[in-house]
Amino acid sequence: MGDMCGIVAYVGKPANGASAKPDASAQGTRAVEVVYAGLERLEYRGYDSAGIAVVGGDAVEVRKKSGKIVNLKAELTADPLPVASAGIGHTRWATHGAPTDANAHPHRGGTDGKLALIHNGIIENYAPLRAQLEAGGVEFASQTDSEVAAHLLAKAYAKTGDLTTAMQSIVANLEGAFTLLAVHADQPDRVVGARRNSPLVVGLGEGENYLGSDVAAFIDYTREALELGQDEIVTITPDSVEVITFAGESVTPRQYHVDWDAAAAQKDGYPSFMEKEIHEQPKAVADTLLGRTTPSGELKLDELHIDPALLRSIDKIIVVACGTAAYAGQVARYAIEHWCRIPTEVELAHEFRYRDPVLNSKTLVVSISQSGETMDTLMAVRHAREQGAKCVSICNTRGSTIPRESDAVIYTNAGPEIAVASTKAFLAQITACYLLGLFLAQLRGNKYADEVGRILEDLQAIPAKIQTVLDNAEQVKQIARDMESTQSVLFLGRHVGYPVAMEGALKLKEIAYIHAEGFAAGELKHGPIALIDEGQAVFVIVPSPHGRDSLHSKVVSNIQEVRARGARTLVIAEEGDESVKAYAEEVIYVPKSPSLLAPLLGVVPLQIFSCELATAKGLDVDQPRNLAKSVTVE
Ligand code: M6R
Repeated sequence: MGDMCGIVAYVGKPANGASAKPDASAQGTRAVEVVYAGLERLEYRGYDSAGIAVVGGDAVEVRKKSGKIVNLKAELTADPLPVASAGIGHTRWATHGAPTDANAHPHRGGTDGKLALIHNGIIENYAPLRAQLEAGGVEFASQTDSEVAAHLLAKAYAKTGDLTTAMQSIVANLEGAFTLLAVHADQPDRVVGARRNSPLVVGLGEGENYLGSDVAAFIDYTREALELGQDEIVTITPDSVEVITFAGESVTPRQYHVDWDAAAAQKDGYPSFMEKEIHEQPKAVADTLLGRTTPSGELKLDELHIDPALLRSIDKIIVVACGTAAYAGQVARYAIEHWCRIPTEVELAHEFRYRDPVLNSKTLVVSISQSGETMDTLMAVRHAREQGAKCVSICNTRGSTIPRESDAVIYTNAGPEIAVASTKAFLAQITACYLLGLFLAQLRGNKYADEVGRILEDLQAIPAKIQTVLDNAEQVKQIARDMESTQSVLFLGRHVGYPVAMEGALKLKEIAYIHAEGFAAGELKHGPIALIDEGQAVFVIVPSPHGRDSLHSKVVSNIQEVRARGARTLVIAEEGDESVKAYAEEVIYVPKSPSLLAPLLGVVPLQIFSCELATAKGLDVDQPRNLAKSVTVE
């Protein structure tokens, strides 16, 4: 019954921001403002319920509401929180248990109304702990596992009189993944957090400090952050941040500067984050390429701190990722195998460790993750390292767990991705994979420097071409609006067009709630073609006619096959490809590019299509039902 959530905490001087409205019933105190604003920024992490607790006077005050954060806002207006020095806030994606007011966080611990706690993750041994507490007379107000931690903490506080020591004494008894944040009315100048397997970062202010499940929680106030490691406890006061391990040893955390600016996490006039992020794709690709070539045009990946001799010796690459990131990996496989001649597999991270994969020191495991917090991917990385493999992570979030636990990281510089449906991170991930593939090819002598240089030039030209696709978006938007009542859409592609087809289908499922499937076009005749009926919409991603072998003509045949059976064919083709016109209801042209790089262009109309169709249906494209941005439980 744990949750995957957004969490935020603030501690400052009681007078901060309170001077305008000094009475205890005033709204707009700094603590409430900061925590509420953080929750708004973190809502993409979960939107089943939201709540805030602040230390006000002799008690901890809690407001919480099921549903989206606007419900909490209404509650705060009806029943304002008091002036406070410290606060914690939580926005929930329920893994089990109803998203009710009672199950919303924060949870109170004990009976004196002095302690509140929020939790992200799953406490796996909550059932015996709850039974023990109930046997001792504790009454529970919710069905959550999290409330167990609140009561345990209250009991420990009663013995120790110090929140940090109390936290340290309870974490040893908790199993599973958790970030816990707590406040206590007797220590109103502090928030204490504990972290195991779930994300938590510290934001450093002046006379105030912050905690967040990611930097978006406090980006409005500071860009200086501290990374926390596994099994660490942090205590923030207005003027100090102290970190210890669960065992009580002092830790000096690494400080880093967050180069995302606050504006990057705003909609900037776009109707949705998703639309904004689709339009940021030229920059996401350009920024991912930035600084990775020498003045003479050679590729350098300074961040890949793995012994070059070892990289020369690897005989297998396994890409592990989930969802869209896994499709980026599938695109990467074609490029890496072609350029480096290293056998490359792509595996869904949640399947990876359970099949007991064959790994050794010559295996390079490449994890791909926008958030850097996806639990399935993290567990795959841990498993791979335990087996002696080297791990490189391709990640968009600095300070996140997966890069921390990898041997090396290549950051995608896409900037914060807020919409649950991944778009710009996908393009940046593919770009980073190309860089890795080219780097390995250069290092291992599979390609001469001038060959690598030519492909890099082709890559440098991609952002402008994506812009062209965006400039021509109206055609695909109109197609989407006309298909508002469509029940099912199929997507076909071959070679690198196959993962593009699957990504197109995923986008449509997750934000427009339309049944969609992506197929390898060659597989059609082996079964799926039976689905084709009069009017069935089929997107086909056609490879370049100038590309390899007879791939283009085979895909054109596939279009004819589905059309002959009544399909409505919507074709994405390279500009100038007249051959598809006769078989397509609509042709969406994208600029020419080398075949292996084509996914960076071909997927863009599919993203626009889903976004526009979901918008036409009146759906919330940024926060689709049942989903959360970071899947931090397995
Ligand atoms: O943060 P990650 O890249 O590790 O997330 C992986 C998937 O959960 C993610 O790509 C998901 O499939 C998106 N909602 C797709 O739009």
